[in-house]
Amino acid sequence: MAAPTVRVEAPSAPEMRELGEIDLLVDLGRGLVLANPILVAFGYGIEYGDVVDVQRLGAICCKGTTLRPRIGNPTPRVTETPAGMLNSIGLQNPGVDAVIDKYAGTWQGWRVPVIVNVAGESIGDYVEVTRRLEGVPGIAGIELNISCPNVGKGGIQFAIDAEAAASVTAAVRRATDLPLLVKLSPNVADVRPIARAIADAGADTLTAVNTLSGIALAPSRARPLLGNIYGGLSGPAIKPIALRIVYEVSQVVDIPVVAIGGVTELADVLDYLAVGAVAVQVGTAIFADPTIPVRLIDGLVEECRHRGLDSYRPLIGTALPKKPGTPSAKGVEYRP
Ligand SMILES: Cc1cc2nc3c(=O)[nH]c(=O)nc-3n(C[C@H](O)[C@H](O)[C@H](O)COP(=O)(O)O)c2cc1C
Repeated sequence: MAAPTVRVEAPSAPEMRELGEIDLLVDLGRGLVLANPILVAFGYGIEYGDVVDVQRLGAICCKGTTLRPRIGNPTPRVTETPAGMLNSIGLQNPGVDAVIDKYAGTWQGWRVPVIVNVAGESIGDYVEVTRRLEGVPGIAGIELNISCPNVGKGGIQFAIDAEAAASVTAAVRRATDLPLLVKLSPNVADVRPIARAIADAGADTLTAVNTLSGIALAPSRARPLLGNIYGGLSGPAIKPIALRIVYEVSQVVDIPVVAIGGVTELADVLDYLAVGAVAVQVGTAIFADPTIPVRLIDGLVEECRHRGLDSYRPLIGTALPKKPGTPSAKGVEYRP
């Protein structure tokens, strides 16, 4: 196994204090230290380079990458919803080899770490994509998108079954020394056993959450609108659900949790930190305004200054139960 290629160029916390800066460093494990807790989950990091300085971002989580190229789902693939959007892109991507050829050279010259989002339909797929990414300069980590049908288990998603989620995590863990993030699905009754199983199987960090399953209808109401019938709901509409899941998960695992779901403004970042997230990713909001993430970084610095903090870390976990273990189950029991 090749040595990991993680570049940690962010200044250390004492160095930052000397500079009079706010310490925003985030440690996601296995040497992956981010300069700040605002990540972007969109594209390959090059699409918005004209509008924002991507080097300022905490990290870039690139588009879902599969072993072979995928053309994606039939159209229409996207529709707006109140406070969100429904998409059924279907992991359209050029395949791992093309992603490495096209982008890794550029990423290698970047200060911002790039985490590659990996998808597959079998454990073998995930492991093979990971092996190809292992040791490639410019790739700082892997994020497993396990909301994919597991062909070996009759199409059931890896993400909704603790055993399947643990198996794919453990297999990828054996295949790589790269920092490993695993992304949870919100489409489950209780995410906590799944989160624990993934952490026990060797993930360095959890990401919460992927999109919620939904449908929209064609204007005629004669059929569903999306070519794939089902789509994934994202945007502010899902934030309360993602917030509940981060609240639940951060109480049952000892590894960092990165939140994603409907982040558009600083209040969302502060909310996710308060329920235990160490960082947030911004997805759908980028479509409307790619400058949001850098403005969130500036806003977080301002917020820390305003509160007299020299680090953002005191903002983490303030809304979690003070006595570990007792009221945490409440959120799960309250299911109308
Ligand atoms: C158009 C689109 C494409 C997405 N593609 C992926 C993907 O390839 N892999 C993945 O793990 N999540 C993917 N997601 C899910 C997002 O990363 C994120 O988990 C979800 O949209 C919630 O965050 P948001 O409300 O900030 O968008 C996609 C979301 C959208 C809207």
